[in-house]
Amino acid sequence: MRRLATITAAAFSLALAGCGGSTAGLLGADLYEQSCAGCHGAAGEGGLGTAVGPGSNAVSLSDEQLAAVIVVGPGSMPAFPRLTDEQIDSLVMYLRELQTP
Ligand code: HEC
Repeated sequence: MRRLATITAAAFSLALAGCGGSTAGLLGADLYEQSCAGCHGAAGEGGLGTAVGPGSNAVSLSDEQLAAVIVVGPGSMPAFPRLTDEQIDSLVMYLRELQTP
C-alpha cells in the first residue's frame, strides 16, 4: 500500500514536471509542444484536455480570451502564470495556426 502511494506520488510529480518543465526561451510551436501538447494533442486534437484545433470551441474565443485561459488555467487545466507576454502571444498565434484547416 505504502509502496503504491510512493509510486503514485512519483508518477504525479513526473506528470507535473512534464507539464510545467522549463519554458524559458521557448516560443510558439516549441512552447506548445512542451507545455500544452501533452493534454491538447500535437495538432490540438484534444486528449486529457479539450480539443483546441480546427472546429473546436477554442476557435470562437478571442485572442484575449485564449491568453486569459493560458494564464488562469480554467477548471482542471493548470495555470501558466510565469509565461512572459511574448510567450503568451506566441502561443495564441500558434493556436490560430493549428486552427487553420
Ligand atoms: C494538464 C492538462 C493541460 C495542460 C498542460 C494544458 N491544458 Fe489547456 N485545458 C485543459 C483542460 C482540462 C481544459 C478545459 C478546462 C475547463 O474549462 O474545464 C483546457 C482548456 C483550454 C482552452 C480553452 C478551450 C475552450 O474551448 O474553452 C485553451 C485555449 C487551452 N486549454 C489552451 C492551452 C494551452 C495553450 C496550454 C499550454 C500553455 C494548455 N492549454 C495546457 C488541460 C490542459
